[in-house]
Amino acid sequence: MKIGVFDSGIGGLTVLAALRERLPHAEYVYLGDTANLPYGTKSPAQVTRLSVACAERLKPYGLDALVVACNTASSVALEAIREAMGTVPVFGVVEPGVQAVVEALEAWPASEYVPILVLATRATIKSASYGKSLRSFLEPATRPVFEQACPILVPMIEEGWINHQVLHDTISEYVGPVRAVYLTGVVLLGCTHYPWIEAAIQAQLPGWKVVNSAFALGRLVSAQLNADKARGTAPGSVEWIFTDPDALPAFACQFINGQRRSAHVE
Ligand code: DGL
Repeated sequence: MKIGVFDSGIGGLTVLAALRERLPHAEYVYLGDTANLPYGTKSPAQVTRLSVACAERLKPYGLDALVVACNTASSVALEAIREAMGTVPVFGVVEPGVQAVVEALEAWPASEYVPILVLATRATIKSASYGKSLRSFLEPATRPVFEQACPILVPMIEEGWINHQVLHDTISEYVGPVRAVYLTGVVLLGCTHYPWIEAAIQAQLPGWKVVNSAFALGRLVSAQLNADKARGTAPGSVEWIFTDPDALPAFACQFINGQRRSAHVE
């Protein structure tokens, strides 16, 4: 079984790790469009054009599924990507993200007031993909949804500033207004880059439950694909494509080398 995974850069690596946990024997092709990053500050038309180009690039690999490991592309370009992929199943990250929030909320009684804060790129927030979907599931009187665009987090993460004072101050600016009013709640990492800075986000929202959609996505993909086809004795390989390989920060290179060591063929 071969699964394609793409993102604008290194955000999708957090999704790839969750997929490999669920489907370790599948083979993967990872595409990071680092030459065109960031997607989150671009228009829907630009994101759609770039996302379809990623899908077209991965299509000749004979994929059994394509995972759009980017909230921005999943929010604005999923239909166009599906069209480009024909009969190949395409999974986005927004639906599992909503599911993960709904599951996290089960920890509170339904009558208790629990705010939900969605942190994402500007394009994702503007698309209202999370806002609309979450509000359709949740009772607004006790589960208000706040959406915060964080356009400068992705460039910092791609720069390797995952524990930099400027990053901590920036997160504080973004979450400050909601934190000033609520001591607890659920914060959704609505961009696949943000799990890289989960500790920094948690530090700014100490009483909040942080939700990463990657695990719900891994569960969804393995349930919907025929997992038997991915059975084997050794971990499957990962093929890496970066449209600008020189742009990778050191921590991402370390992660990729770790994934290489746990794969059986290169
Ligand atoms: N990692 C992507 C997301 O989940 C895109 C980040 C970007 O390129 O702005 O939205």
